[in-house]
Amino acid sequence: MSQQKALLLEKAKGSFVLSDVPIPKLGPGQLSIKIIAAALNPVDWKIQAWDFIVKSYPAILGTDIAGDVEEVGEGVEGFSKGDKVFAQGFFVHEMAGFQQYTTIPADIVGKIPFNIDYAQAATIPVAFTAASISLLRAQPEGAGLNPTFDLSVSYAGQPALVLGGSTSGGQYAIQLFKLLGFSSIITYASARHTEYLKSLGATHVIERGEVPVANVAEVARKITDAPIKIAYNAVGDSDSRAACVAAVAEGGQVADVNPEAEDPGNGKRVFSMFGSSHHPPHREFGRILWKTLPKLVQDGLIVPTRVEKLPNGLAGIVEGLERMKAGSVSGVKLVVFPQETP
Ligand SMILES: NC(=O)c1ccc[n+]([C@@H]2O[C@H](COP(=O)([O-])OP(=O)(O)OC[C@H]3O[C@@H](n4cnc5c(N)ncnc54)[C@H](OP(=O)(O)O)[C@@H]3O)[C@@H](O)[C@H]2O)c1
Repeated sequence: MSQQKALLLEKAKGSFVLSDVPIPKLGPGQLSIKIIAAALNPVDWKIQAWDFIVKSYPAILGTDIAGDVEEVGEGVEGFSKGDKVFAQGFFVHEMAGFQQYTTIPADIVGKIPFNIDYAQAATIPVAFTAASISLLRAQPEGAGLNPTFDLSVSYAGQPALVLGGSTSGGQYAIQLFKLLGFSSIITYASARHTEYLKSLGATHVIERGEVPVANVAEVARKITDAPIKIAYNAVGDSDSRAACVAAVAEGGQVADVNPEAEDPGNGKRVFSMFGSSHHPPHREFGRILWKTLPKLVQDGLIVPTRVEKLPNGLAGIVEGLERMKAGSVSGVKLVVFPQETP
């Protein structure tokens, strides 16, 4: 078998079409993965709408992947055909997720632990990677909270803020702050997610319906006497960034999902994240992340985002991306099953 189905973005700002394309060829150091589940991310609709990141068309998008090892590349140790794995893809044909097979460097692939299924595994890579790189990695790429993923590091007594706790990224930021031992984990989210976010580790939920984003800093400072030195802006618009900047103390840091977030130059550091283990400056950290992550999930310390399963395999992606673009996906990850493509 040399052909497979893929969802192609035909041209810049063009339409998605289902096509038959060659299965990516396996290279040394890689795993060929039969994709069982692929999750959707906001960046997928943004690339179609705005034409960025992707260098050539037609393009295949999708970077949250879970599936079975189909073939093991030369020089790879520790994986066998049939292993259940999850990984972050990239926006090139050979490594993308909106297709039935992909190839990923084995050093940034994890084995799916027994306590989660393919769909749950597919919710983790992109959002967890972005939160981990930006919070843990050394400056300038991250906030430097734990560059070696040393699980004994503790920030006991300190507070942290997550603006947009119900986003996929926000959910992992909350869990990372809990893992790092932060004493107060304050988040801003809709009331309907309060109990769930508390189950992940949030200690205080400032409710979006009751508190305007401009008042978040004031409310957060009433929750804790300790200075807030770190905030995670999982929403990324200017209002949410301003709220994070206002909430952190002098010398504090704001990790922002928006690639164009600007530093205010007022003694507080705002930096943009680029959440990809494939990106050369993050590669070494990516290796550590993928060695550490499966056990954290198996031990229940990192819990996958809740899943909404979409029908029709790869054909279900277009409607899913439209729903994300319209802002009507709340607190769940949309997941498709490429092998079910009609
Ligand atoms: N730079 C990077 O490397 C990187 C990586 C991953 C994601 N991102 C970006 O991060 C952003 C979030 O992505 P995601 O996948 O985590 O999001 P998502 O799960 O699709 O976000 C949906 C959630 O956003 C919440 N939300 C929307 N506006 C909000 C606001 N003003 N305040 C609080 N919550 C708000 C909604 O909450 P309610 O339902 O409660 O209203 C909803 O639950 C996107 O812009 C994405 O492109 C960047």
